[in-house]
Amino acid sequence: MSDAGLPRRTQVAIIGAGPSGLLLGQLLARAGVDAVIIERQSPDYVLGRIRAGVLEQGTVELLEHAGVATRLHAEGLVHDGVELAFDGRRHRIDFADLIGRHVTVYGQTEVTRDLMNARAALGAPTVYEASEVSLHDLDTDSPRVGWRDAGGRHELACDWVAGCDGYHGVSRASIPASVLRTYERVYPFGWLGVLCDTPPVSPELIYANHPRGFALCSMRSTTRSRYYVQCGLDQKVEDWSDERFFDELRARLDERAAAALVTGPSIEKSIAPLRSFVAEPMRHGRLLLAGDAAHIVPPTGAKGLNLAASDVRYLSRALVAHYRGEGSAGLDGYSARCLARVWKAVRFSWWFTTLMHRFPDTGDFGQKIQEAELGYLVGSRAAATALAENYVGLPFDD
Ligand code: FAD
Ligand code: DHB
Repeated sequence: MSDAGLPRRTQVAIIGAGPSGLLLGQLLARAGVDAVIIERQSPDYVLGRIRAGVLEQGTVELLEHAGVATRLHAEGLVHDGVELAFDGRRHRIDFADLIGRHVTVYGQTEVTRDLMNARAALGAPTVYEASEVSLHDLDTDSPRVGWRDAGGRHELACDWVAGCDGYHGVSRASIPASVLRTYERVYPFGWLGVLCDTPPVSPELIYANHPRGFALCSMRSTTRSRYYVQCGLDQKVEDWSDERFFDELRARLDERAAAALVTGPSIEKSIAPLRSFVAEPMRHGRLLLAGDAAHIVPPTGAKGLNLAASDVRYLSRALVAHYRGEGSAGLDGYSARCLARVWKAVRFSWWFTTLMHRFPDTGDFGQKIQEAELGYLVGSRAAATALAENYVGLPFDD
C-alpha cells in the first residue's frame, strides 16, 4: 500500500470517473477483478455536468447487471415513442408498436451518482483531483500510471489500462500517431441547452425540424425539463436570456406545443459544439479505450452515453474472461467488435443530425428535401421501423 492508502499494483487502472470508467469499475468489482479509478476532477464537478438523458434498453440491462438500477427503475420514465415535428405538425414514432422496445429517460448525472454511491459502498479505490496523469510502458505486460495530487506524486502498476477519460483525456493521446487513425466531421452549429424545473411540454420527446433551426424538447423527470435549440458557433450563453431562449424555442415548435410550453427560470444553460469523431484502433498494447475517449457523436440520436455503455459491456466481459482463465479472444477482438457497433451509431447520429438541422447551404430546396424525407419516415412503416431500431439501440452481436 502507498501512503495514500492505495495499492501500488492493481489489475486494471481506469482513467476517468465518467459513466464509462465508473460502470467498468462496478462491473469488474462485482466479478472480483481489482481496479483503481484515477479522475482529474472532483466528484462534485463530475456530477455538475449536465449531459445525456435517454438510455437504451441495452444500457438499462447493463446497469441492472451492475446492480445499480434500483433508483433508475423507481424514477426513470419509460418512453414508448418520440415525436417528430416539421412543417407545422407533429407525428409520433411508436417504438412499442414498431419493434416492441422502449427507451428510459434518466439523466447521466443520476447514472453517475448511482455508480459513485455503489463504488463507495464497495469501498473500491478512486483517486479524484489527480493532475498530470501519465501512462507508461503500454506496449509491455506491465504498464504504469503516474499522477500528482495534494499528497504528491504517485505511481500505480497494473496489467491493463482502461482509457475512459473522454475526448480531451490523456489515454488516446498516449497512442503513437503512427498507429492511430482518426475520422472526423465538425458541424457548423452547436446546441444551446436549458434545464429548468417546469413540467415537460409533452409526455414524450419532441425533435423539431424548422427553417429557423432544430429544436428538442426533452426532460429529466415529470417536473424537470431539458430544452435545446440549434445555435450558431459564434453564440455565447450570455447572449441568451431565458426569455430569448424560450421565444426561439416556441418559434420552432408546432402551435400546440408552443401554446403548452411552461417556462421558468433556467437552472443550467450551456452551449455544446457538435462533432462526429472516431479513433481506430480502440486497443494499443495494454491500453483499451472506451466511450468518448475513442469516439464522439453529435447528440441528436442520444447515442453518446449509450455507446460508452456498449463499449464497457464488451470490455468488462473481455477482462473478466481473461482473469477467469477463459482466454484472451475478447481482448484481442475488442477493438474490431466495438468499432463495428460504433460506426453504425455514428452513421445514425450523422444521418439524424443532417435530417433535422439547418445547414449554411440548406436553403429552400434543402428544407423541402428534409420535409419530404420526414414525410416519408412518418408515412412508411419500413422507414419508421429503421428509425425506431436505431433510436432504441441496435442489438449486440452476442
Ligand atoms: P466523460 O463523461 O467525458 O468522462 C470522462 C472522465 O474522464 C471525466 O470525468 C473527465 O474529468 C475525466 N478525465 C479527462 N481527462 C482526464 C485525465 N487526463 N486524467 C484523468 N481523468 C480525466 N450524449 C447524449 O447522448 N446526449 C446529450 O445530450 C449529450 N450532451 C453532451 C454535452 C456535452 C457538453 C458533452 C461533452 C457530451 C454530451 N453527450 C451527450 C455525450 C455523453 O455525455 C458522453 O458520451 C458520455 O459522457 C461519455 O462518457 P465517458 O465516461 O466516456 O466520458
Ligand atoms: C437529450 C439529449 C439528446 O441528445 C437527445 O437526443 C435526447 C435527449 C437530453 O439531454 O435529454
